[in-house]
Amino acid sequence: MTDKLLTLKDAYKDYFKIGVAVNPGTLERDDELIRTHFNSLTAENHMKPEELQPEEGVFTFDKADKIVEYAKQNNMMMRGHTLLWHNQTPEWFFKDGDKEASRELALERLKTHMEVVLGRYSDQFYAWDVCNEVVEDHGEELLRESPWKSIIGDDYVQKAFELAREVNPNMTLYYNDYNESHPEKRDKIYTMVKGLLDKGTPIDAVGLQAHWGLEDPTLDNIRLAIEKYASLGLKLSVTEMDVSVFNFDDKRTDLTEPTQEMMEKQAERYDQFFSLFREYKEHIESVTLWAASDRYNWLNDFPVRGRKNWPMLFDTNNQPKESFHRVTSFN
Ligand code: GLA
Repeated sequence: MTDKLLTLKDAYKDYFKIGVAVNPGTLERDDELIRTHFNSLTAENHMKPEELQPEEGVFTFDKADKIVEYAKQNNMMMRGHTLLWHNQTPEWFFKDGDKEASRELALERLKTHMEVVLGRYSDQFYAWDVCNEVVEDHGEELLRESPWKSIIGDDYVQKAFELAREVNPNMTLYYNDYNESHPEKRDKIYTMVKGLLDKGTPIDAVGLQAHWGLEDPTLDNIRLAIEKYASLGLKLSVTEMDVSVFNFDDKRTDLTEPTQEMMEKQAERYDQFFSLFREYKEHIESVTLWAASDRYNWLNDFPVRGRKNWPMLFDTNNQPKESFHRVTSFN
């Protein structure tokens, strides 16, 4: 019976790539599930700046290499994540001895980082998140405060894309963000990306992280976000999808199993989301789930530390959930 299960990647072979976020531990523990259902991998953490270049000029590729090797052996492609971010980026990028680094020095370091990272990995990668989460969620300011912004200036996003294109002309270059389907943030992301395009910046695509829940965002708002970003003529990907069973401000910690109602609602939501993605397949390059199953995922610690969550398509035993059946049974 399990043998006959339609796999995610087969169900979506005429639509878009189906990805999953991994780390060396999950590649071992969830090997079979990952190999069976997915044809694209993203390193959950191990290609972030702090992992790849913890000290200036000291590159640590062993874990990242393992992931790329696994992809190669299993005929999968890779999405790179991420080149420039305000988090998980070591301090040294922004320092010159005891002083703050100059604009020139910060840009030079960014360039070197890209040259080494993009130079090491070329064939296997179809896309990279060049900039992650630079837009401020609320208020008038378009760009959030970050050392990148204060040191280089507001054109740092443009510079990052130009450098990435210069270093690797063949890859889809992404801007990636969360709350991407909330109207206020959506409009700000749109404005920022449009501004970049108007200046001739080589940005190819927008990544919708899609850390979603049972009620929020609404389906209509997701559709509007997809349409708005696509109206810029850019490609799109769903880059970090999960569907939390708790609303963001729900801090309850009493559950050891998800309720049946949660699982039904989740299946209905996954069904709606994937049917929307199919509708927009012309624009969508890949859909990546941010974990393989409910066994392990970052929501077990966020936003409530230590609280178990059940946000994925497979359960804690890596068995398909109703959500999985719903996203693979269409036509
Ligand atoms: C953001 C980042 C990801 C990851 C998640 C939490 O969305 O883009 O790399 O850190 O937060 O897992």
